[in-house]
Amino acid sequence: MNLPASGRRVLVSGASRGLGRAVARAFAANGDRVAVHFGSRADEARATLDSLDGTGHTLVGGDLADPAGAVAVVGAAAEALGGIDVLVNNAAVNLRHPLAETPYEEWVEVWQRHVSVNLLATANLSHLAARRMIDQGSGGRIVNIGSRGAFRGEPDHPAYGATKAAVHALGQSLAVSLAPYGIAVASVAPGFFATERVAPRLEGPEGAAILGQSPFGRVAEPAEIAAAVLWLASPAAEWSSGAILDLNGASHLRS
Ligand SMILES: NC(=O)c1ccc[n+]([C@@H]2O[C@H](COP(=O)([O-])OP(=O)(O)OC[C@H]3O[C@@H](n4cnc5c(N)ncnc54)[C@H](OP(=O)(O)O)[C@@H]3O)[C@@H](O)[C@H]2O)c1
Repeated sequence: MNLPASGRRVLVSGASRGLGRAVARAFAANGDRVAVHFGSRADEARATLDSLDGTGHTLVGGDLADPAGAVAVVGAAAEALGGIDVLVNNAAVNLRHPLAETPYEEWVEVWQRHVSVNLLATANLSHLAARRMIDQGSGGRIVNIGSRGAFRGEPDHPAYGATKAAVHALGQSLAVSLAPYGIAVASVAPGFFATERVAPRLEGPEGAAILGQSPFGRVAEPAEIAAAVLWLASPAAEWSSGAILDLNGASHLRS
């Protein structure tokens, strides 16, 4: 299998802003071509696209909560790029729903939303992209964006923590089943990092406590997470297949 170190065809889900944007920029700066996927924020996704180094990138919209949407997204990305060598499963939702404060009907709806976007869309995109990688015959990489919350617990966001744990487990299963095809699969488990979505929490009353979670006294920048994603997608990282890489500034140490 000859996965190149650059010039690869990369699909990044949820790249309209936040970490997905930083990941798209990291691959583009590495000389790869990127399909910038978005769900609803077309203008922000266009801004991501316009900010990328190099040429040959493309924009792909689609609702990943719908299995047919995943088919359309992977099809459009592969057509525009001429195939797919790397998939980064970044798109996710994270909605507050502490059990004691959440009515049952809302609880059911929120859980279904997390499962369909965070877990099922990751599984569906992985299937669709990996089938193409297998047919291409040149190996590939899948990198999942998991979370520290899978290990530490998410009392106010339990469906988020549970679906991220499932994403880690899915990555490990696929790492085993896709290795014979030269496809390596790994996950990152970040702690808090500063994106538009979490800015109100960082600027609010709990901001100081969040910064204090890490002995570095800060949260991560998205580029610090993106650098690890880029490396896990590199030819040198084949032996890291199956890994779940903690990226949390020593804020949560697993044993
Ligand atoms: N920020 C943190 O502190 C933190 C910590 C650990 C892990 N993470 C994980 O890191 C990743 C990125 O986080 P972030 O803070 O950058 O989040 P974000 O800014 O909310 O970005 C989420 C992305 O997912 C897309 N998306 C959501 N639902 C979708 C759907 N149904 N169909 C298609 N796209 C959908 C959004 O698209 P549109 O905006 O275009 O709709 C957006 O591009 C997520 O997997 C998150 O769980 C974040």
